[in-house]
Amino acid sequence: MSVYFTDTDPAMRARASSGPLGQAAMAALRAPSVFNTQPWRWDLHDGVADLRADVGRRLPVLDPDSRLLVVSCGTALNHAVVSLTAAGHAVSVHRLPDPDDPTLLARLVLAGRRPPEPMDLRLMQATAVRRTDRRPFSDIPVPEESVEALRVAAERYGAHLQFLREDQVVELTVAASHAADAEVTDPRYRAELSAWTHRPPGSADGVPATGAVGTVPRRVPVRDFALEGGAALAPGGDSDAGTRYAILFTDADTPTDWLVAGEAMSAVLLTAVYCGLASSPMSDVTEVPAVRQALRQLLSGLGWPVLALRFGIAHRPGAVPHTPRRGPEEEPS
Ligand SMILES: Cc1cc2nc3c(=O)[nH]c(=O)nc-3n(C[C@H](O)[C@H](O)[C@H](O)COP(=O)(O)O)c2cc1C
Repeated sequence: MSVYFTDTDPAMRARASSGPLGQAAMAALRAPSVFNTQPWRWDLHDGVADLRADVGRRLPVLDPDSRLLVVSCGTALNHAVVSLTAAGHAVSVHRLPDPDDPTLLARLVLAGRRPPEPMDLRLMQATAVRRTDRRPFSDIPVPEESVEALRVAAERYGAHLQFLREDQVVELTVAASHAADAEVTDPRYRAELSAWTHRPPGSADGVPATGAVGTVPRRVPVRDFALEGGAALAPGGDSDAGTRYAILFTDADTPTDWLVAGEAMSAVLLTAVYCGLASSPMSDVTEVPAVRQALRQLLSGLGWPVLALRFGIAHRPGAVPHTPRRGPEEEPS
């Protein structure tokens, strides 16, 4: 992430960074992003915060149309709004406000004070503890009231979360296997993955081996972040039998839909923390066009799959280390 201050006056810059919008941009550092690319930057000026796509951090092989980049920016947007709301600020969100400037994804404008609800504070707390947990989850089933809470969290943003029935999980398994086959046999994909799992010293992004899980039999395979070995996270003894899988989808497939999907994804993952659930995203099933198309059948062709999400109960919740994050005020890529 980088925070940019359009004001050149140092006193104004200091005020902007310590103000609520600067704090929100800092809170957004914790947001999840594809390959932990953190592909956004914030421009703070004149009492507004502009969220911009950092297109230099796009994944050209895996994400040629920037869909997952924009989804990742949506998670940062939601983290910023969660931070502002918890601090008692009402905020207006203007999505893709300038048709002539497609990298300007959102503009946040403060809109007065508003006492936070208890749930606002819990979601803010969740930003500090949420992390992607790729380990198999336990046999304990995910409670139905949690499933409903996650669904409602997505709907609040105009996106949808379809939880899969057991017979549909088989189709997800097929989709994930096909996606993995197509990707790992593509040397360009392997090079892109290697670039983001073997970062130069000092760079605070990418997916280190500390977050990669050793290979283990499971119902639905997850992306292998350690193709050349070295996964540091022990899978543990869980079977993944209680895991619930869901497809996050939108009604249309435009950049605004992708942004909203990212906001919904963030809200869902933070709600999962509140429900005591571990989670991990699976975007591989939408990265290969033919596989994404097949996944649409699970939605009866009624929507556009953004990614799959898995939820479950982790026996050792604190065991997954945090991934690194960039600092504020870095140059955009
Ligand atoms: C759009 C998007 C796609 C992602 N796709 C995957 C994926 O396919 N497999 C996976 O294990 N994690 C996936 N992730 C999780 C990221 O790898 C993770 O957010 C990032 O490494 C930061 O780690 P953290 O979530 O623990 O903070 C995705 C995240 C986002 C936002």
